[in-house]
Amino acid sequence: MVNIAVFASGSGSNFEAVVRAEKEGNIDGKVKLLVTDNQDAYAVERAIAHDIPVFCFNPRQFNSKAEFEKEILTKLQESGIDLIVLAGYMRLIGSTLLEAYENRILNIHPSLLPAFPGLDAVGQAFDAKVKVTGVTIHYVDSGMDTGPIITQEPVKIDSRDTKEDVQKRIQRVEHSLYPATIQAVIEQIKRSG
Ligand code: GRF
Repeated sequence: MVNIAVFASGSGSNFEAVVRAEKEGNIDGKVKLLVTDNQDAYAVERAIAHDIPVFCFNPRQFNSKAEFEKEILTKLQESGIDLIVLAGYMRLIGSTLLEAYENRILNIHPSLLPAFPGLDAVGQAFDAKVKVTGVTIHYVDSGMDTGPIITQEPVKIDSRDTKEDVQKRIQRVEHSLYPATIQAVIEQIKRSG
């Protein structure tokens, strides 16, 4: 069994999509933990509703990223976590977690990377008036939305679309693409033993 921790700082709709996929038997793993740096994140309520343990930390109570990542790592190890899935986690991952989970950390980003990395990728694409944007799922490295790309799906932008229309379309794609990609990664993990 591949044990998964989801990291989220906000709404957690992708967290919910992954949990649902697991419950429907579409992910051959178990979501064991939600990690958050925001006690007010709606993702926390979603986790409670699904009886999934939450590890919440306040970065301001630590002197450095290495210090709070050490705490996270202890929690991940206690929970037997094999795979980390970032879903709207608003921090860069540091060397403590990158070294412990090499090639075992995924991120989802709402653009066709390397275009529009960072904050408000949908707004960036909208303002740039591109006709196509999309969703990228990639392995995480120390950069901001860098790291080897696993999969991408395009999403069209029509000239009549509002930013909210594009946002909705992107999220719909995310909610099916992330579970499917996580399952593909799990199969790869299993094959590699
Ligand atoms: C998603 O759009 C994801 O691509 C980005 O953050 C957003 C999280 O949304 N990394 P949610 O909290 O899962 O609803």
